[in-house]
Amino acid sequence: MSKPFQPTQFIAQAVRDIPRSGIREFFDLVQGQKDIISLGVGEPDFVTPWHIREAAIYALERGRTTYTSNLGLPKLREAISASVENNFGVHYDPAHQILVTVGVSEALDIALRAIINPGDEIIYHEPCYVSYSPSIAMTHGVPVAVSCKAENGFSVTAEAIEAAVTPRSKALVLNFPTNPTGGTMTRTELLKIADVVLRHNLLVITDEIYSELTFEGEHVSIAALPGMRERTIFLHGFSKAYAMTGFRIGYACGPVELIEAMMKVHQYSMLCASIISQEAAIEALQHGEPDTIMMREQYKLRRNLIVKAFNDMGLKCHLPRGSFYAFPCIESTGLSSKEFATRLVKEEKVAAVPGGAFGVSGEGYLRCCFATALDKIEEAADRMARFVKRVSN
Ligand SMILES: Cc1ncc(COP(=O)(O)O)c(C=O)c1O
Repeated sequence: MSKPFQPTQFIAQAVRDIPRSGIREFFDLVQGQKDIISLGVGEPDFVTPWHIREAAIYALERGRTTYTSNLGLPKLREAISASVENNFGVHYDPAHQILVTVGVSEALDIALRAIINPGDEIIYHEPCYVSYSPSIAMTHGVPVAVSCKAENGFSVTAEAIEAAVTPRSKALVLNFPTNPTGGTMTRTELLKIADVVLRHNLLVITDEIYSELTFEGEHVSIAALPGMRERTIFLHGFSKAYAMTGFRIGYACGPVELIEAMMKVHQYSMLCASIISQEAAIEALQHGEPDTIMMREQYKLRRNLIVKAFNDMGLKCHLPRGSFYAFPCIESTGLSSKEFATRLVKEEKVAAVPGGAFGVSGEGYLRCCFATALDKIEEAADRMARFVKRVSN
């Protein structure tokens, strides 16, 4: 007699082993509850600027409904090349060194799939974006986390990275400004990291999706430092800077051989990014800068307000110099980050993400996205202050 069919038995070990995203887990709890103020999902509250939406509509009107080259529309790659050179000081050849992807999400996934052999160690800094560790593990790599601390403004030190290097280390993943901490890096700090990378012959994958949302200091890409362009895969996208999360569009730039390897994975899995989104992305790069500047100014006002409110209510909160996340420390309340977030939703109807969702180094913190209207942030802060007072007594 044949064995009974058990779906779970067919799930690959690497997938079985990874947890669901802590963000989604938490938001499933929140779903359907009324009057919640959400500081949860990391998404601009602005709708995509009209001229960018119009470019997408116009693309449809012109019947632009086909596949594109696997690498992406040449006009978009040219616009990306000009933008990256202008903003980051690194030149990439649009014909061979730029690949348009379905968001930075896909770019990260195919970069990892293009480079990892089973057992290769990939170093990344934590607390970090929820997908890094699972994406490495699903590719049969070994995720190696290096902790970032509030007292360093959540930057990562070259010493900590060097201490994590072993003969199996293959690549370093960086994300500055960081989701969920808002940490940034100075040129001097990055130069020290570049030195470690060069001495240990590592590859760098740098996710700079929040670079336009840098509030203080210059944003420096590690790709622009001496000797790094040759060994860096630079990832960027349109979701945050142009409020285009739903368009699902991003890109990777890097050495020809690595872009070619990523292109193979992309070709057999995704084929190409949506042509409608690519047309909209061209418009964003060509005319979207004033929108980005306006949104950044708004986020800065909101950041200043929320960070002050946290410190006033006794939750120590460092100033995020980039991104749209504040990361207050909730240890003084004696609650775990999950208990804090769960009770906060239940008792005060404010949703924020437990820091533990971003790795063990995130425990004791809460991620609060301030891409939310000012009056809502004020109301959320009042409710949180009431909650903190109550649980701290
Ligand atoms: C650090 C980081 N990288 C990548 C992504 C995903 O970006 P995309 O929408 O381009 O896939 C996010 C989304 O929140 C993020 O925070």
